[in-house]
Amino acid sequence: MPAQRWATGPGRVNLIGDHTDYNLGLALPLAVDLGVTVAWEPGGDGFTVVSDAYPGEVARIPRRPETATLTRLEPVWARLVAAVVSLARPATGGVLRVSSTLPAGAGLSSSAAVGVALCALFGAGGTPEEVARLCQEAEHRTGVPVGLLDPLVCAGGRRGHALLVDFASLATEHVPVPEGAEVVVVDSGTRRDLRNAPYADRVAECAAAAARVGRPLGLAGEDDLAGLADPRLRRRARHVVTECRRVRGAAAALARGDLAVAGALLDESHASLATDFEVSTPELDALVADLRARPGTFGARLTGAGFGGCVVVLAEPGALDPAGLDRPAWRVRAADGALGPTGDGSPSAATPSAPAPHRAGSAGG
Ligand code: GLA
Repeated sequence: MPAQRWATGPGRVNLIGDHTDYNLGLALPLAVDLGVTVAWEPGGDGFTVVSDAYPGEVARIPRRPETATLTRLEPVWARLVAAVVSLARPATGGVLRVSSTLPAGAGLSSSAAVGVALCALFGAGGTPEEVARLCQEAEHRTGVPVGLLDPLVCAGGRRGHALLVDFASLATEHVPVPEGAEVVVVDSGTRRDLRNAPYADRVAECAAAAARVGRPLGLAGEDDLAGLADPRLRRRARHVVTECRRVRGAAAALARGDLAVAGALLDESHASLATDFEVSTPELDALVADLRARPGTFGARLTGAGFGGCVVVLAEPGALDPAGLDRPAWRVRAADGALGPTGDGSPSAATPSAPAPHRAGSAGG
């Protein structure tokens, strides 16, 4: 019998820099020690897929799914798996078992975690950038117009570090998370689904603003905004331009261990996402205000696309006890991406019964 293989993709928390990736701006995410593991028992011509998150549901996917069928495939959660299969073109089908320590739909990138885990399993792509492009194309094939933020860090993050990404050049820099900082993620409990949330509207508004400004918003300056007559487009563009400035400031502040400055930039980011970009919700705003009022927190903001999901808090170690909050919360650590510490996918020696987080491996010969 062919060997069973498995791979784990980490989720991600974006420390700062939201709605900048598809504008060719900057972001500072980290891959985290929560993730999705996919086990693959190869054999047969199609795939049977089960997921811990959807007990009792079984998806059947042909080994060469047609792109046109992907947006109709049921159950919906299996569409991304089918899209990655359609791009990765594995040589054989089999049974795929998906299990997760990440809350689904909470803005911690459970879908990119699945995508990068599948790429690691199927040996698709090579560099973090190639894997990220494949995962992005897979999301696009399911009808979700995401940027490269999530799969890039889920593939190429590094333990103990945030990843400063410049989406214009795709240059990346690993920025150490200082010892005196703890990252806590708190779930607002409200859910968003990027297929239904007005995410695509924001992408379109930014494209319209960029066309008027004459350059991608991530490369524009505040002076460029004066020419934008439409107040809504001006607010959207202002968020992107100022957010990129904040990302640069936060990366520099983290690098020198200045958590007060980094935290203040997180606070400003939330305000900008709420007022200029209008992707916050009353629940997220109230949660951010509550967490910021607690001693030992440096800053807090919604993380990811918004419209629900999670808040990220930069705090003094031990200041915020996840168990003491009245909702799900996690103290997360920056972890290696699915391609491992070297970013090249070197296989780990771990066995499937005790998978090393965020790596790929095999057992049974
Ligand atoms: C989602 C998308 C990313 C990015 C964020 C917002 O997570 O998948 O590409 O646009 O929203 O920063």
